[in-house]
Amino acid sequence: QLVRLEDYRPSDFLIDRVELDVRLHPTMTKVTATLSMRPNPAGRSDVPLVLDGDEVNLKAIALDERVLEVGEFEASPQSLVISQPPQQPFRLTIETEIDPTANTKLMGLYRSSGNYCTQCEAEGFRRITYFLDRPDVLAVYTTRIEAERVEAPVLLGNGNPVESGAVEGTGRHYAIWHDPFPKPSYLFALVGGRLGRVAKPFTTMSGRKVEIAVYVEPGKEHRADYALDALERSMIWDEKVFGREYDLDVFNIVAVSDFNMGAMENKGLNIFNDKYVLASPETATDTDYANIEAIIAHEYFHNWSGNRVTCRDWFQLCLKEGLTVFRDQEFSSDERSRPVHRIAEVKTLRARQFLEDSSPLSHPVRPSQYREINNFYTATVYEKGAEIVRMLKTIIGDEDFRRGMDLYYESCDGTAATVEDFLKAFADVTGRDLSHFSHWYAQSGTPRVNVHGHYDEAAKTYRIDFKQQIPPTPGQPTKEPMVIPVVLGLVSQDGQPMQAACERVSTRGVFLLDKAEDSITFTGVSSRPVPSVFRGFSAPVKVSLDLSSEELLVLLRHDTDAFNRWQAAQTVAMRMLVSLSTGVAVRDEEMNSLASAFCSFMDRDALSDPAFAALVLTLPSEADIAQEIGKDVDPDAIHRARKEVRRHIGRACFEHLTDFYRTLAETEAYSPDAASAGRRALRNAALDLLTAADQQAGEKLASEQFETASNMTDRLASLGVLMTIPGMVRENAIGDFEQRYRNEPLVLDKWFTLQAAIPEDTTLDRVKRLMEHPAFSINNPNRVRSLIGSFAMLNQVQFNRKDGAGYALLASIVLRADELNPQLASRLLTAFSTWKMMESTRRSHARRALQSIAQKPNLSRDVGDIVNRSLEEN
Ligand code: ARG
Ligand code: ZN
Repeated sequence: QLVRLEDYRPSDFLIDRVELDVRLHPTMTKVTATLSMRPNPAGRSDVPLVLDGDEVNLKAIALDERVLEVGEFEASPQSLVISQPPQQPFRLTIETEIDPTANTKLMGLYRSSGNYCTQCEAEGFRRITYFLDRPDVLAVYTTRIEAERVEAPVLLGNGNPVESGAVEGTGRHYAIWHDPFPKPSYLFALVGGRLGRVAKPFTTMSGRKVEIAVYVEPGKEHRADYALDALERSMIWDEKVFGREYDLDVFNIVAVSDFNMGAMENKGLNIFNDKYVLASPETATDTDYANIEAIIAHEYFHNWSGNRVTCRDWFQLCLKEGLTVFRDQEFSSDERSRPVHRIAEVKTLRARQFLEDSSPLSHPVRPSQYREINNFYTATVYEKGAEIVRMLKTIIGDEDFRRGMDLYYESCDGTAATVEDFLKAFADVTGRDLSHFSHWYAQSGTPRVNVHGHYDEAAKTYRIDFKQQIPPTPGQPTKEPMVIPVVLGLVSQDGQPMQAACERVSTRGVFLLDKAEDSITFTGVSSRPVPSVFRGFSAPVKVSLDLSSEELLVLLRHDTDAFNRWQAAQTVAMRMLVSLSTGVAVRDEEMNSLASAFCSFMDRDALSDPAFAALVLTLPSEADIAQEIGKDVDPDAIHRARKEVRRHIGRACFEHLTDFYRTLAETEAYSPDAASAGRRALRNAALDLLTAADQQAGEKLASEQFETASNMTDRLASLGVLMTIPGMVRENAIGDFEQRYRNEPLVLDKWFTLQAAIPEDTTLDRVKRLMEHPAFSINNPNRVRSLIGSFAMLNQVQFNRKDGAGYALLASIVLRADELNPQLASRLLTAFSTWKMMESTRRSHARRALQSIAQKPNLSRDVGDIVNRSLEEN
C-alpha cells in the first residue's frame, strides 16, 4: 500500500496506441478500448500483464482479436491480469461498463448537472477502463464518443476533431477525436452535454491557426468572455516569455459545476471548476477575476510544462506543478502589478504552505513515499515547488534561466521526466553543480534564518551574521543546511539606499547562504544602516530579525523593495499582536507609534498605489498570528487582540480613512483591471478599519454600500463588514442577499462562507441550519468547501471552540462526505493540521475528534492516510 520513490521501475509493457469507443449512457456507459501494446525493452520479460482498474466491470476481452477464455485472464474491479501475454506486439481489446451517474467520487467518468465529463489525474483513467495507469506510459489516443443527440449535442475529446455524424436509425450521434501527441492516461478527457460556447480564432507566432473556445452552461456564455480573453493573453505571453507555442488546431475549455479541484490540463481539452471560469461584474469579485486569469493561464501553461514534458512517476508531481505555478505567477505579475502580486503569493504561501510544513502533514516538495497520491496535491508541492524554481532563477539570473528552460524543453519534449532532468538542464547551461541546491526538493520543513547585524563605527564596516536552522519534520529528525539566496541591500537611517561594498554579494544583490552559519561584511558604510534582507521574499524561509520597530518603520517608509516595505509593517504589527494575544503588556506609546506610522503611511503614499496600500493596512490574520505563536494557542485571545489593534488604528487614522472612503468611491463602470481592483481594495480596507473604530458609523456606511453597490466586490465587502456587527441590520442583509442570488450557486457560496466565518457562538447552529438550505448539497465540492471548509479554515474561534463542538462538527461531516467523495473529505480533514499548536483543552478535544474518525471502519484510503499522519507522534 505504501508507494516508495526508490522502488520505481519502468513498466514491463508499453501501450503505443489507444482506440477508445465510448457509448455514453447515464447509468450504463459502454467503453471499448483497443490497446496496441508491446513488451517494454527496458522492463522485465516473462512476467504477467497487470492492468489497473477501479470499480470497472469487465464485459469482454480479446487478444489479437481472439476472445479470451476463463482461465487465460483474471479480472476484478481493481485489476485485470493476463498471466501469459505475448512476447511480441499485440492488440488487447477490452470492453467495460461503467455508471457515470453513480460516480460521486468525481474521478473517472461522471455526470455534473446532467453533462458527462472526466477527471483522470492522478489515477482516474482506471475507473474508465483497465489500463497501465501510470504517467510514464505514453500513447497516441483516438476517441470515438457516442451519445443521444438531445442529451449531449456537444461531444469533445483530446486533440483535433476528425469526424462526426449521426448514428443511422437512432437518435444518437458520434464524434471522433485524434490526439497526435503521445500522452499519459491522466491527460485523457472527454465531455458530452448541452453546452453554450464562446470562441475566437488565434494565430500562433509561427502562423498556425487555432480555434480557442470556452464551453459553459447554456445562457451563461457572456460570463465566459473574461476566461476566453485570459486564455488568449496566456497564449501570447507564453510565446513571448518562454518561446512556447500551442500545438493543436483547437483548444477547448469546459466549465463544470462539480469538480474536486480547480481545473485540469487535459491535452487540448481543459476541464474547469466553473467557479474559475464564470465571471460577471454582478456575480464575481475582483479576487474571482484574478483567480480565473491565473488558473486559465496555469492550465494552458501545462501544455508544455506537464503535457509535452510530463512526469515519470507521481513523486515528480512538483516537476509540472511547481514549474507551472511559477509560470502562472510570472504571468499574473506581468499582467498586473509585480510587487502587489508577490505579496499576495507570499501571503498564500505562509497561510497554507508554512502552515502545512509546521504540521504533522509536513512533507518534502518531492515526497519519497505516499499511500494516496491525491493527498499530495498540496501547497508544498505547488507553492513551495514554485518557490524553488524562483530561487533557481534568482541564483542563476534571468538569461541563464531562460536558456536552461529552453534546453529542458528541447531535451525532454515527448518524455516523462524527473526533477533530476530539470536540474540537469540548468547545470548544463551554467556549468554549476546544483546538487546541494536540490536539497530543497528532498528536505521538508521551513528553514528559519536568524539575521544579526553589527556596525563598527570606527572601521565603517557592517557585518551581518546569518544562521539557518531547519526544524525536524515527520521522517526527518535532522537536516543538512540548504542553499538559500538572500537578496539584500542597506538603507540609511534616514531612508537613503547605501552603496556599500561586499564581495560576497553579487552584482544582482544576491548572497548565497549555503552553510549553517555564515557572515558577510560590508565596507565603506558611513553610518549605522538598516539592513533590508530577503527582498522580494527571495527564499521560502522564516526570518528572525533583530531590528527595532523604529528601524522597521524606516523600511516601511523608504525601502526601494516594495515587498520589504509591506513586510516591515506586518512585522511591527505582528509583534504587537503576539504580545497582546499572549498576555505580554503593550505600552500605550508602542500602540500609538504603530498607529501613527499607519497614519503617516496613509498621508504620504497610500493613494499612489492603492492596491499596495490595502495590503499594508490589512493586519496579519488570526491564523497568521496563531502560526507565529506556534504553541499553546488561544484563538479567543488572538481574536480580541486583532480587534483591539484594528480599533486603535481605526481611531487614530479616522480622518484619513473617511477621506479614502469618500475619494475612492467608484464613478465609472466596473472594470476588473488591477488598478480599479486596487482602488476598491483600499476603499474596502478603509471601511473595515472605520468600522473597527466606530461600529455605528461603519454599519451605516456598510449598509449603504450594500444596497447601492454596482458590483459583487463592493457588495460582498460591505456584507463582510456587516457580518462583524450582530443585530437586525446584519440579518436583514443576509436575507436580502439570499433573495437576490437565490439562483446563483456560485454567489451563494460566498454567502455560505461569510456566515460560516462569523466569530460568534451561534455560528455552529447557523452552519448546521445552512446545511439544510436548498442550495446546499454534500455532493457538490464547491458548496461543501464554501460552508464547511470556510468554517474550519477561516473561523478560528468557532472551529477551535473550547468545548470541542467545532471539531466534532467537522469530524461528523468528514465521515459523511467520505462515503461519497473521499478526496473532498480528506481535504476538509486537513483543517485539523493546526491541532497540535492549540492549548491543551482544545488539543485534547481535537485529538478525540481525530481518533473518532480513525476508529471508523471502511475509511477511504484518502481519509485514513490523513487522519493517521495527523495523529502520529513524531
Ligand atoms: N493538475 C491539476 C492542476 O494543478 C490538478 C488536478 C488534480 N486532481 C486530483 N484529483 N488530484 O492544474
Ligand atoms: Zn497544475
